[in-house]
Amino acid sequence: MTPAAEPRSAGASAPRDAHAPAVRLRRASLSFGDRVLWSDLDLDIRPGEFFAVLGPNGSGKTSFLKTLLGAVHLTSGTAEIAGRSPGRHGDLVGYIPQQKMFPPNTPLRARDLVSLGVDGHRWGMRLRSRAVDRRVDELLAKVGASDYAKVPVGMLSGGEQQRLRVAQAIAGRPRVLLCDEPLLSLDLNHQQAVSGLIDAQRREGAAVVFVTHEVNPVLDYLDRVLYIADGKFRVGTVEEVMTTEVLSELYGSRVEVSRVNGRLVVVGLPDATTHAHAPESDGQEQSA
Ligand SMILES: Nc1ncnc2c1ncn2[C@@H]1O[C@H](COP(=O)(O)OP(=O)(O)O)[C@@H](O)[C@H]1O
Ligand SMILES: [Mg+2]
Repeated sequence: MTPAAEPRSAGASAPRDAHAPAVRLRRASLSFGDRVLWSDLDLDIRPGEFFAVLGPNGSGKTSFLKTLLGAVHLTSGTAEIAGRSPGRHGDLVGYIPQQKMFPPNTPLRARDLVSLGVDGHRWGMRLRSRAVDRRVDELLAKVGASDYAKVPVGMLSGGEQQRLRVAQAIAGRPRVLLCDEPLLSLDLNHQQAVSGLIDAQRREGAAVVFVTHEVNPVLDYLDRVLYIADGKFRVGTVEEVMTTEVLSELYGSRVEVSRVNGRLVVVGLPDATTHAHAPESDGQEQSA
């Protein structure tokens, strides 16, 4: 069944603890100067868990992912991801960065971008075996991008580019998928398609850590959330965290949470922490 050309994982000899949490934080704190983003965070995220990181702009959601990637160091405490130290996880971890549009003249076709995720670590970027081509085709089909496989990425819409980022991030069959605002600037159809693709990874056993300031598009998928605001946080199910009492306490002012037609509506957020989406044109997050 497995094609002879299918390469074996280069990291196969490294020990992996199948029971280890996908993410493990102990007394983790992060500050920039005297600005505390969070402190004393203890957290285990399980394999197969869909875990959202919520909070207003500037609360520290991207920084949370960056500590797991090893790009930012905790001020104190410890972090482990896929049983390894942050930064030492290789392709056990997939990452969808916060979206930036590719410039129109980017010299990469859609399938080239996806192939960077497939063969970048294991085979060297230049090797083009049939196994790699097949895997790229499979990934393009999986995210519904086959039709534009040969189109330069800079010519594609935000939603089309985002599907390719998902394909690239899942190419190595990661055990943990870190996603930074993957739905930003997507229309409703694309939001559903992209969150469905990410959930499919979870169903195959990956842990998903999904950063978003808008919870409704993924409400049905969520197992638990980490809500960060104003240097404080709360971890629990949506029912436990997304309440008038908890959010009012986090924000230090009266915030009303209600359910309207199955959607969560949060009223009374401080002005500086608006949850509004960024404009479609540049894909950048608004600063708070
Ligand atoms: N490397 C850094 N040095 C200093 N401050 C930083 C750094 N990275 C982020 N910050 C600050 O930390 C806060 C949280 O940033 P970020 O994690 O990007 O928030 P979010 O993703 O929730 O919008 C912001 O105030 C930001 O300016
Ligand atoms: Mg961010």
